[in-house]
Amino acid sequence: MRKISVIGAGNVGGLCAMRLLENGLGEIILVDVALNLAQAKALDLEDARYALGSNYQITATDDFSRISGSDIAIITAGLARKPGMKREELLAKNAQILRAVAANLKKSAPDAICIVVTNPVDVMTYLCIKELNTDRRRVFGMGINLDASRFANLISKRINQDILNIKAAVLGAHGEEMLPLSRLARVGNRPLNSFVSGSELKQIEGETVLRGAQIVNLYGSGSAYFAPSAAILQMVKAVLNDSDEICGASILLEGEYGISGACLGVPVKLGKGGIKEIIKLDLNKDELSALQKSAEAVKELCMTLQ
Ligand code: 2OP
Repeated sequence: MRKISVIGAGNVGGLCAMRLLENGLGEIILVDVALNLAQAKALDLEDARYALGSNYQITATDDFSRISGSDIAIITAGLARKPGMKREELLAKNAQILRAVAANLKKSAPDAICIVVTNPVDVMTYLCIKELNTDRRRVFGMGINLDASRFANLISKRINQDILNIKAAVLGAHGEEMLPLSRLARVGNRPLNSFVSGSELKQIEGETVLRGAQIVNLYGSGSAYFAPSAAILQMVKAVLNDSDEICGASILLEGEYGISGACLGVPVKLGKGGIKEIIKLDLNKDELSALQKSAEAVKELCMTLQ
């Protein structure tokens, strides 16, 4: 039985645990310093087993040593933004939390593949790679995989097409510098721009960029968790099934796309061992400069990490 540790039993962590259990991906260790929260969610999830007809296993703990032997660790611990905040404003506090999480991971589950979710995710991924001092293929962030799902959904709703006909990708930082790639988006075997005008494309891109903030404002406190947990599930499935599925992931770039020393969202093939291949898209001049601008913004934030 695979072992997956979910660090942080908040909305994303709890729903992520549920999706992983219901997909039979492994036993879950749900870790949170707020032990009562983790225990409440674990008991509630266990109570669902009879109704679901599934004998899945979950353990709640505040003891990091229980993650030992994990195949995958998903880091969702940290603060979520409030209405009007940018994800980057969470950096100082969440860096503190993630340093402690990384130290525990290094001690108790050094071989786990690490999926970072905590925001600002590109900077937090960079921090985890440095703190864990591990192969960059085994630590990556989930940010633009969520953005791609939002982009595809907004396209599908706008042109009233089955979501399964949509192919959409987003590059760059999981923030306002993200780059929804309309030029490469497809609906069936046709380019997206044969369905909508240039101004509509810009509108859909803008809605994608601001979707996270829109949901934060609607909730009033906390941020999205249904789509983020689904985007995490997609990545975990690809790794555990060694499927070579292409997902958007925040990875430490070392010259790819002309960028080094920053974690940024690019398409990657995921499978056994984490990142199997970094996909090199043929970007045009504007797209490449937008991506490099996004990288500079992330690098600046990474410099503020002591
Ligand atoms: C979002 O965009 C929480 O960053 C996440 O909803």
